[in-house]
Amino acid sequence: MERILIIGAAGQIGSELTLELRKIYGNANVYATDVKDAELDIKESGPFQLLDVMDDKHLIHFVIRHKITQIYHLAAVLSGNAEKLPVQAWHINMDGLMNILEVAKLVEDVKKVFWPSSIAVFGSTTPRQLAPQVTYMEPSTVYGISKLAAERWCEYYSKRYHVDIRSLRYPGLISYKTEPGGGTTDWAIEIYFEAIKKRNYTCFVEAETLMPMMFMDDAIKATISLMEAERSNLSIHSAYNLSGLSMSPALVSMDIKRHVPDFTISYAPDFRQQIADSWPQSVDDRNFRRDIKWKPAFDLTRITDVMVAEIRKQIKASLT
Ligand code: SER
Repeated sequence: MERILIIGAAGQIGSELTLELRKIYGNANVYATDVKDAELDIKESGPFQLLDVMDDKHLIHFVIRHKITQIYHLAAVLSGNAEKLPVQAWHINMDGLMNILEVAKLVEDVKKVFWPSSIAVFGSTTPRQLAPQVTYMEPSTVYGISKLAAERWCEYYSKRYHVDIRSLRYPGLISYKTEPGGGTTDWAIEIYFEAIKKRNYTCFVEAETLMPMMFMDDAIKATISLMEAERSNLSIHSAYNLSGLSMSPALVSMDIKRHVPDFTISYAPDFRQQIADSWPQSVDDRNFRRDIKWKPAFDLTRITDVMVAEIRKQIKASLT
C-alpha cells in the first residue's frame, strides 16, 4: 500500500495534485503538508500538517512515523521572486531538495520521489525552438541555476544511491484553483482573471513573447503517469522535457475576446521580460512521449474555455 507525502500541498501544483492522488490512493494515504495553511478541501479530505522541508529532523521523523513510500516535493521559490532574494531562494530551493534526497536515501520505505524541474534550466544559448532534452544549458536566473544544479543532484542520487527520483521540466502551468505567485509565466493566469474581473490587463511581458505553457490537468496527468511508470521504461533519470503548447499574450488576448469582446490589453514589461527572453519558445519532449505514451489534451481554445467558465463560477460563488 502506498503512503504519499506531499510537500507544498497548499501551492499551485500541490493543491490540485493532492486531491487527484487522494482519489487514486485513498484520502487517508495522502499526507498533505506545507509551511502555510491549506484550503479547506485539502484539510477536510485527508491528513494535513504544517511541515517545513528545511527542518530535516522533523521531516525524517514524519516520514518514518507515517511509513511514507512516495514523496512529492513541490515547495520552491519561483523565478521572479527568486531574483529579488537570490541567496535565500538558492538555499530554499537547494537545501529543501537535498533534505528530501537524504531522507529517500536513508529511509528504506521511501521508494519513489517526485521533484519538479522547469524550462528555466535553459538559457540564451539553448536553441529557442524545440529545445532538445540534451543541449546547451546556461540559465541566467537563480531559479534556473538551482533547478539545473538540482537535476544533476537527482541523477547523482539515482546513480550512486539508487534513489528512484523522477522529474519533469514543467513549462508555465495554467490553472484557476491556486495562484502561483512570483513566476515569469504568471501572466498567462493573471490575464484570464483580469479579463473576467476588469476587462483589461496590463501585461509584464511584451505582446509577442512566446512561451511554453501547459494546462494544469495535463501536467497532473503527466506527473502521475511518470510516477506510475515502470522504472525500467524510463530513459531519463534527471528530468524529462515536457511540452504542451506555446502561448504569447497577443494570442491569448485574441482568444479571450471570444468570451469578453471588449477586453483590452496593454504592456508594461518589467525585469521578467529578460527572463522570458532567455527561455525557449518551445520544447522537444519526444523522450517523455515515447517512454510514457502520453500527450497533452488541452489546446489554447480549450484552456480559454475552461479558465473563463471556472473564473466566472468562482466570482458567482463569492457573491452568494
Ligand atoms: N513557471 C515558473 C516560473 O515562471 C517556471 O518554472 O518561475
